[in-house]
Amino acid sequence: MNFPQLRLRRLRKNERIRRLVRETGLSVDDFVYPLFVCPGKGVKTPISSMVGQFQLSIDHIIEEVEEVEGLGIPGVILFGIPERKDEMGTEAYSDDGIIQRAVRAIKEEILDFLVITDVCLCGYTSHGHCGVVDGDQILNDPTLELLAKQALSHARAGADMVAPSDMMDGRVGAIRKALDENGYSETAIMAYSAKFASSFYGPFREAAESAPQFGDRKSYQMDFANADEALREVRLDIHEGADIVMVKPALPYLDLIYRVKEEFNIPVAAYNVSGEYAMIKAAAQLGWIDGERAMMESLLSIKRAGADIIVTYFAKEAAKRI
Ligand code: PBG
Repeated sequence: MNFPQLRLRRLRKNERIRRLVRETGLSVDDFVYPLFVCPGKGVKTPISSMVGQFQLSIDHIIEEVEEVEGLGIPGVILFGIPERKDEMGTEAYSDDGIIQRAVRAIKEEILDFLVITDVCLCGYTSHGHCGVVDGDQILNDPTLELLAKQALSHARAGADMVAPSDMMDGRVGAIRKALDENGYSETAIMAYSAKFASSFYGPFREAAESAPQFGDRKSYQMDFANADEALREVRLDIHEGADIVMVKPALPYLDLIYRVKEEFNIPVAAYNVSGEYAMIKAAAQLGWIDGERAMMESLLSIKRAGADIIVTYFAKEAAKRI
């Protein structure tokens, strides 16, 4: 059949018909909400490049988690802003570190809430790199040991899932081994598998105070020209024990979300990163786009591409609209 017998507009005629034939939908079940934990009490510092997002001390984190829970969002991912930074990022793997304390506090208040922790050193090192530094080199294998210690201390604090975001080779295997050997075989790993050296992390680095103090992250995060390599990264992480694999950022990388979902039968997460959030917020503030509609369209596109899970700063706002 062809036009004029065939008319695709018949199924767009009104909202009820459109609802009936809609192929993809968003659910609050899809979301993970990122939170930035900082030291102190009663601290709620706005992040200027991320409207509506804050650095929160643990007391405020608890309030926030209660709100997130009330909206039906399954879980949060935590990023820490430590008291002190040093060359080796010691607070990252201290049982008394900011994240470890935050996880314990959340778990004390809301037993079955899902707590995911970001595992990476960049927020904790004085040089702002995601690994151990020697001169201008970021060392791979010595970093694995620290990441494994960090993941283990998060698990010990009660984290349900750890999310390594450093892009060192072999980190998923090293973390899985450390968790299993220490009685945490139930702790899941959501690996930032295809993580690109992206300009869209800019606002996050303000939020987490984690910008590299020299050079850039191109020797560990992926070249954004490469797609086959992203599939190799994902394959390796699955092989090393990742339970969920992630593509990051999301919107400029929908092709990869699609390819990863097609290629592997494993839950796929996409990180709708700080820059993607900031662009919509900024344009909306200027009155140049309808921010709410752009938000819903972006999130749905990520879902349509194949993501099962969307890590997004929009989680609360979107949950209210669903
Ligand atoms: C840490 C990390 C980053 C993000 C998540 N974990 C920043 C980076 O790699 O520099 C970015 C998240 C965002 O932009 O929202 N390695």
